[in-house]
Amino acid sequence: MPKIISAGGGKGGIGKSFFSANIGGLLSMIGKKTLVIDLDTGGPNLHTFLGVSNPSKGLWNYFNQELSLEECIIETNYKRLSLLNSKNCSKDIGNQPYSLRNILYKDIKRLQYDYIIIDLGAGINKASIDFFLLADLPFALFTSDPLSLENSFKFVHKVFLQKIAEIVPPKKLNSQCSAILKSNSTIRPGDILERLQELDSPYYPELKKTMENFKLYLTACKVDNSDTAKNIESFYKKFFGDNISLAGIIPYSLNIEKSVYKRKLYVAEYKKDKALKNLMNIVKKVIL
Ligand SMILES: Nc1ncnc2c1ncn2[C@@H]1O[C@H](COP(=O)(O)OP(=O)(O)O)[C@@H](O)[C@H]1O
Ligand SMILES: [Mg+2]
Repeated sequence: MPKIISAGGGKGGIGKSFFSANIGGLLSMIGKKTLVIDLDTGGPNLHTFLGVSNPSKGLWNYFNQELSLEECIIETNYKRLSLLNSKNCSKDIGNQPYSLRNILYKDIKRLQYDYIIIDLGAGINKASIDFFLLADLPFALFTSDPLSLENSFKFVHKVFLQKIAEIVPPKKLNSQCSAILKSNSTIRPGDILERLQELDSPYYPELKKTMENFKLYLTACKVDNSDTAKNIESFYKKFFGDNISLAGIIPYSLNIEKSVYKRKLYVAEYKKDKALKNLMNIVKKVIL
């Protein structure tokens, strides 16, 4: 069974594709058979981070039912690192028919890799969050830009609500938690759990167990001040509880931008750069 990682965050330009490509690169360099999947089907560019300019096939052949998922995978120039790209797809993943998304969801889990990394697009839609939650290790990225912070909070909040909805059907949740759901403030996942416990809801034990095992990793990107990232982590922890922790901080590095211009994978091109150590720490401390 592959270990699945996802990179989300609700906004564009926050480093999701950079993170996916380079965490994939590091895993492949330490001997792990790794696949990176571009699910930003509306605006794909994961292939560029990997130096692949004209992929011959990809997810569009799968969506058109021309090829199986395995057959759409291509090799990159980096050993043990494969890519499922979306270059010629035009629709966002949320605009693909539900039946296709559902089959894709199941087919991803059947692929034979040590690690699979799912790179998501911007937006806070149900489809993206379904794929975000498919991961054993979901990473929500943010930058210190206030717009990114706003979106990332909304994204993470929706992720929690969708996780809860996997256990408690929305209609039941609405009836059992109507009082707290109607209040004007944004609902805390912990308050839902407490309310279900008070009501002795039949959903409570399973939801409690699910939430105890649920982990979400925040990752600060293009952030140089570690205090900023830590303050954000403590804000999230206060709101969502210990399900959330800061996986790491990736500082701003000009070489990251240079690697994109060169169409080379950053971790393979700049072996001594400052952000590399931070990425490696995420791999060692959170992923392996
Ligand atoms: N830590 C960083 N330092 C400098 N540039 C970065 C960093 N992380 C990402 N970038 C650059 O920012 C841009 C947006 O990153 P990208 O990964 O494409 O974002 P997203 O996938 O979230 O839309 C890219 O040009 C990328 O090379
Ligand atoms: Mg991207």
